[in-house]
Amino acid sequence: MIRAFKTILVTGGAGFIGSNFIRFLLEKADFAGRIVNLDALTYAGNPESLADLAEKYGGTRYFFERADICDREAVARVFEGYAPDALVHLAAESHVDRSILGPEAFIKTNVMGTFTLLEAARNAWKFREDVLFHHVSTCEVFGALGDSGSFTEESPYDPRSPYSASKAGSDHLVRAYHNTYGLVATLSNCSNNYGPYQFPEKLIPFMILNMVEGRSLPVYGDGKNVRDWIHVEDHAAAVWEIMKRGEAGRSYNIGGENEWENIRLLGRLVEIVAEESGQEVGGLRKLITYVKDRPGHDRRYAIDCSRIKRELGWERALSFDEGLRKTVRWYLDNALWCERVRSGEYRTWLDRNYASR
Ligand code: NAD
Ligand code: DAU
Repeated sequence: MIRAFKTILVTGGAGFIGSNFIRFLLEKADFAGRIVNLDALTYAGNPESLADLAEKYGGTRYFFERADICDREAVARVFEGYAPDALVHLAAESHVDRSILGPEAFIKTNVMGTFTLLEAARNAWKFREDVLFHHVSTCEVFGALGDSGSFTEESPYDPRSPYSASKAGSDHLVRAYHNTYGLVATLSNCSNNYGPYQFPEKLIPFMILNMVEGRSLPVYGDGKNVRDWIHVEDHAAAVWEIMKRGEAGRSYNIGGENEWENIRLLGRLVEIVAEESGQEVGGLRKLITYVKDRPGHDRRYAIDCSRIKRELGWERALSFDEGLRKTVRWYLDNALWCERVRSGEYRTWLDRNYASR
């Protein structure tokens, strides 16, 4: 069975993965329907990431609604107004360091927001079977690994930061709505994404911009924590395969099969930035500074994504070196996007253009 959708409601579509997912659906995927992007535009949400698509498809295939996923009335209005037959849930507070400094927003958005969306979907869709709620989650719900092994879909949940605990809570709610109310739902748990339009607080864009600006490159702890990196477009393609052909109630791990110690990754990034920007490798290396570790820093993530490869035929398309170089180039070529996303300027623009309803 292959599902087909007319209207897909994407939450968090102005964020990093959401905007890349919408771009993928509108420009690359076998999808001819329309997309409604529901986003509260927090500091991490930037409609400029989709400005060209809004221009091209606005009012025909692309619609934007500024709303908080915790706002029950607003979410219900969007369901009534657009009658979506699929929902891809990406909206979240997503940064681990911020969750350590202030967990409350994570519990509100990631737990209560997911609950609000599930209730809206249940009310709107009743017992329909030609619909889908796809929940985008993280491998961090499984905790941390030692030197060997990898997370499978059967790994026990063991979240260790407020961020991952809130995402684990949201995963459990989605499964509960599937089991209890028969909501047609699928889940995915993905490893670390990189690519264009990522807010420059996350490791890769943060380090690229610090190199460009000659600022120090802070490595947490001994730099030997390991992450498994995947290009955001490979993630988008995987989510789309699950939406079309994934089994209801099932979760799928998505990963790049691409483990890197942070310090080794930074070494490679220094080389690519030097090559692409004309800066001296030696000068960039001198910026590397070891700093105090992140509290509760998960040591290693590694994803076993054999289920999605075996059952849905998904494979990652981009090699890491190619993806990393393209990403570096994107940040070097989009200095204005970077400057505006980090300054108060785009906030002013945003308030002018997207006044709260
Ligand atoms: P992001 O922080 O770049 O974007 C989050 C988006 O959600 C923003 O546009 C923001 O405005 C919106 N948002 C936040 N709170 C909201 C609310 N209350 N109501 C409506 N919109 C709200 O995040 P991202 O990196 O694109 O991650 C997207 C999803 O993918 C998250 O659920 C995250 O947990 C998951 N994920 C991320 C990664 C990764 O490496 N970035 C890996 C696996 C899973
Ligand atoms: O694995 C999936 C998760 O990946 C997603 O669910 C999260 O939303 C996403 O933010 C990411 O979480 P991480 O904590 O792994 O990503 P971050 O970019 O914050 O950090 C990556 C690694 O780099 C981590 O080991 C911490 C380290 N780090 C990070 C920063 C920002 C540093 O050493 N220095 C830094 O300045």
